[in-house]
Amino acid sequence: MSAVFDSISRFYSSSIGKKILVALTGAALALFVLGHMIGNLLVFAGPDAINEYGHMLQTALHGGGVWIARIGLLAAVAVHVVATVSLTKANKAARPDAYGQHKAQVSGRSSRIMIWSGLTVLAFIIFHLLHFTIRAGNDFNGAAYKTELHGETVHNVFKMVIDGFSSTPASIFYLIAMALLCSHLSHGFSSLFQTLGISTDKTEPLFKKAGYAFAGLIFAGNAAIVLSIWLFGYGR
Ligand code: HEM
Repeated sequence: MSAVFDSISRFYSSSIGKKILVALTGAALALFVLGHMIGNLLVFAGPDAINEYGHMLQTALHGGGVWIARIGLLAAVAVHVVATVSLTKANKAARPDAYGQHKAQVSGRSSRIMIWSGLTVLAFIIFHLLHFTIRAGNDFNGAAYKTELHGETVHNVFKMVIDGFSSTPASIFYLIAMALLCSHLSHGFSSLFQTLGISTDKTEPLFKKAGYAFAGLIFAGNAAIVLSIWLFGYGR
């Protein structure tokens, strides 16, 4: 057992070990974001479709499924953030020149952007959980947000999303957060293939384009939901 812990701790103490963890947890989170967006698009299929989907997620494995997903997501976010902070600290420590001053590096700007866009995404997730999952400071847990589906009383996710994006400040905040999330995703997407050693000089531009395409898709899907409700009154 201690041999297993030893090798895990040796893997984590190495810089490449941490980079691989950042890449793999980033890939898992990006897949979640894609799946979540596809699920959210069910809002365009009408109240029953998205309410049924929400109810299915809440009741999968007798209610245990959602907790397994929550714990997995929380662990992935924690590892992603802690390993990134530790890599950034190690990079800074290794950087001072002979006079103890920090030299600007080519990669400096994009990784600084990654830290700020990443922290904004983290702030967005906390706001989003308070908004739609815990539903604090609003009435989304109230009786007006219950509906009947196949003879069962379920949470009215459709009405919650429509009412959520009928607010201008919330819609603008979501759009800004989506733009930063997509900047983070597009850079992370190509870095992932570099870290895993799959990217070569020849394929790098291709992975960059694929990163922009992936991020653009996530932005377009999520922004379509916000804009069609906020600006075009969908569902009201
Ligand atoms: C316009 C875009 C989005 C919409 C309409 C949306 C909608 C929702 C809704 C309705 C819920 C609550 C489901 C329920 O009733 O239990 C939820 C939960 C959640 N969303 Fe989003 N979401 C959006 C974007 C995002 C993004 C970009 C992320 C990640 C970066 C994200 C991460 C989460 C997480 C982690 C949960 C909590 C799941 C749980 O523990 O129950 N969402 N979202």
